[in-house]
Amino acid sequence: MGIPIKNICCIGAGYVGGPTMTMMASKCPDINFNVVDINEERIKSWNNKNLSKLPIFEPGLEELIIKTRNKNLFFSTDIKEAIESADIIFISVNTPTKTKGLGAGKSSDLKWVEASAREVARYSKGYTIVVEKSTLPVRTAEVIENILNSAKTNSKREEISFDVLSNPEFLAEGTAIKDLDSPDRVLIGGENKNAMIALGNLYKAWVPEEKILFTNIWSSELAKLTSNAFLAQRISAINSISAICEVTEADIREVSRAIGKDSRIGSKFLDSGPGFGGSCFKKDILNLVYLSEYFGLTEVASFWESVVQINNWHQKRISEIIVKKLFGTVTNKKLVILGFSFKANTNDTRESAAIHICRNLLNEGANLVIHDPKVNSSQITNDLKINPTKLIDNDNSSFDKKSGTWGFSKSINNNEIFNNSYAVIILTEWEEYRKLNWKLIAKKMVPPAWVFDSRSIVNTNEVKDAGLRLWRLGNGLSD
Ligand code: UDX
Ligand code: UDX
Repeated sequence: MGIPIKNICCIGAGYVGGPTMTMMASKCPDINFNVVDINEERIKSWNNKNLSKLPIFEPGLEELIIKTRNKNLFFSTDIKEAIESADIIFISVNTPTKTKGLGAGKSSDLKWVEASAREVARYSKGYTIVVEKSTLPVRTAEVIENILNSAKTNSKREEISFDVLSNPEFLAEGTAIKDLDSPDRVLIGGENKNAMIALGNLYKAWVPEEKILFTNIWSSELAKLTSNAFLAQRISAINSISAICEVTEADIREVSRAIGKDSRIGSKFLDSGPGFGGSCFKKDILNLVYLSEYFGLTEVASFWESVVQINNWHQKRISEIIVKKLFGTVTNKKLVILGFSFKANTNDTRESAAIHICRNLLNEGANLVIHDPKVNSSQITNDLKINPTKLIDNDNSSFDKKSGTWGFSKSINNNEIFNNSYAVIILTEWEEYRKLNWKLIAKKMVPPAWVFDSRSIVNTNEVKDAGLRLWRLGNGLSD
């Protein structure tokens, strides 16, 4: 008989822990899922009856929450109780890049993972399977195991025992529910076969068996970093080619389509854009760089580091193009920024290209009006580290005598946001930005007005017919 699983705990109710446990709870109705977090506000939001107040926005999440919440899925701050009753504990806390000390700027800060492991050692009962779900540097399982075992010895709790497994998450934000529902693969790394099978059985409730891969723990951890590094590398590669397209008469979309038809390359992840963002790509590559440097693999480290460098350069390049096209200065000019999240269909702004591009433009003295359908003004304030200016009718007058400031616009519906603006800059590919009425917008702008489309989503003819100038990323034939 396998290891019986009745109660599952997940530490960390974030972008990964929340949706992952919600999906599992919907697929495994006979198991209880307790999602715990130290952040009371976050837990309150997860428990909010008004589903639009959930802490994260993911298409399809609300429906699953309705199906599971307070039935076999519970959100709370009672970490002790959740750990005590758990047969499996997922660690799904954040692991940001270290800002100081050894490995600063590259390696991940494991302080939250360490804190979680200590809580597990303190409260767990009997045998527990501990699963690392957060993206972690290679060899973290060893660290978790050491913490668990030394805490066990120190507290003389010989009755408790653990197996540590690696089960990285491959969901992408914005499509998390779809990705969780039909994953390309589920990866389980570990040593104890029985523990691995017990975890695999959970997924077998909805994932075909051939998609559940068992590996050793190091391969599992490294595969997660490598997957993200490969994906990010494709984006830096295509973005670097977009720069070549712009100085020739090539069009990056045609190039992408042509190379994507090669079945060895494939068509996905070839959209040139303002540079990759999100909580994982940069962090995971920097982990890989740190690991390579640690083992003296200097060339390997600089190969992967260049993926991040191209991304930074690319974002700076876009900011510079905007300034150049606007006659070399944006001081006191009103520019409309459409989109602040790092991709469409998420309210997450971590490492969003918009943060860097907006900061560059603010440094140049531009006045920005920022719109995003899901990101709120306080999040943008946090990211830009500048307080917003209150907009008067979204008009330019609100920026009078000020430069290098920004305002937030809740809506683009009446086109007021475009009044007296010199340029519209599209940074996120939200669906609603594809349907703008450029004829009406053009009338409100200051000629010669520009549209900078970093996501290639506008209808080129409509923009040009409206008398606007268009710069489209990677298009050598733009204005
Ligand atoms: C993912 C990855 O799993 C992680 O490795 C990466 O660093 C960030 O992206 P994610 O779910 O997106 O994590 O992070 P986040 O939304 O920040 O959620 C983490 C949660 O863990 C937060 O709600 C935080 O309050 C909670 N937490 C953190 C705890 O409950 N306990 C702690 O000790 C630390
Ligand atoms: C990524 C991985 O895809 C996922 O497997 C992992 O678990 C977490 O990290 P995520 O960061 O949520 O997911 O989103 P993703 O769709 O990968 O996009 C990352 C960034 O790349 C975004 O800024 C997106 O706009 C950009 N991107 C993506 C492009 O610029 N072009 C593309 O073709 C695809």
